[in-house]
Amino acid sequence: MTTDNKLSNGKLNWGILGAARVNERLLPAIIEAPNSKLIAIASRRAGAAKATLEKYAPCHANVCCYDDLDALINDANVQAIYCPMANNEHIEWALKAINAGKHVLIEKPMALTVADIEAIERAAIKNKVKVMEGFMYRFHPQHARVKEIVESGLIGDVLSARASYSFLMKPARMYRIASGFEQGGGAMWDIGPYAIHTLRWCFAQNSQPAEPISVIAHAKFNEVGADIVTSGVLDFGNDSEGRARFGHFDISFERSRKSEYEIIGTKGWVKCHAAWVFQNDVPVISWALEDGKYAEERFAPSNHFNLEIEHFSDCVLNDKAPLLDFADAKNNCRAIDAVLKSTVTGGMVVLPVNV
Ligand SMILES: NC(=O)c1ccc[n+]([C@@H]2O[C@H](COP(=O)([O-])OP(=O)(O)OC[C@H]3O[C@@H](n4cnc5c(N)ncnc54)[C@H](OP(=O)(O)O)[C@@H]3O)[C@@H](O)[C@H]2O)c1
Repeated sequence: MTTDNKLSNGKLNWGILGAARVNERLLPAIIEAPNSKLIAIASRRAGAAKATLEKYAPCHANVCCYDDLDALINDANVQAIYCPMANNEHIEWALKAINAGKHVLIEKPMALTVADIEAIERAAIKNKVKVMEGFMYRFHPQHARVKEIVESGLIGDVLSARASYSFLMKPARMYRIASGFEQGGGAMWDIGPYAIHTLRWCFAQNSQPAEPISVIAHAKFNEVGADIVTSGVLDFGNDSEGRARFGHFDISFERSRKSEYEIIGTKGWVKCHAAWVFQNDVPVISWALEDGKYAEERFAPSNHFNLEIEHFSDCVLNDKAPLLDFADAKNNCRAIDAVLKSTVTGGMVVLPVNV
């Protein structure tokens, strides 16, 4: 480990950079993860850090609340930083935190360009710190079970995958579409990263995500250039028998809630019904085969945010590689960028191979 882990009895000391709404989930997760300890939170807005702490963890008065982001970054007791800044601010604050020697969990998307992710990667290597993009969903056990089903050959060769993520945007959340996609606003940088990440994982081989060779997409934009609805097809290239492998995604801020993906093979399909958000529903996956067999599998409640924090702390404390690496972050960014280009040009966008 690169930082002193004796500060909190073997637990990793976390600071939160920004009084963001998503702290509703992550702040309790940092408190609850057994190998983690929340010691600080900061905001640029006076009183906002304290208000956030009181709202989501009223019994934790011993957490230091800063009205200054740099103060948290320079707090020598903070070992790891959770960065839930606005999408277009990840690059600036992640670099500051990394250059101060902190390990950083950066909310998705890690950054808005591949060049920015490369800058984060260089800084992480130079400062010998761990960095991961915050795709919490991957830590829920239901996805490992989906993978087990696929890898068992039950549904045959994987030729298609579909990811649908939608909900009705509440008036209080309109800030998410208050800027165009170049500034990180809109659905594609918000819920799109999950859909694209999942599709790349659905076609993964030997634990390596698959990368699309081209994409074509269509979007509806609002007056400031934020996409509200985006739908598209990712071409993952033909399989060894010349059969097409397409990934379809459909994301929207103006429809009822959908948070599901399915993988379709030559013998059947498997579906995850609550992939990225859970209401009160029990996580369930289902699968069906050509011969009529159908099954549903239910999972015990499990908090993917807690598991994500526990994983990242474990990586830092025990010098392990995070599950999600820089290559994954860059390839997700490339695919999102290609989708957005396609929505603007109306044409197919070809992606570089083997980057
Ligand atoms: N993993 C997930 O499930 C999940 C869910 C939602 C969002 N996210 C990601 O998490 C990040 C944050 O998203 P979010 O929706 O939580 O963003 P948000 O509430 O808009 O917060 C983003 C930043 O803006 C500032 N801010 C917050 N409320 C503000 C206000 N009322 N006025 C002015 N500034 C304000 C905060 O910094 P200061 O406190 O310093 O001002 C905060 O760090 C994004 O990258 C997003 O993609 C992840």
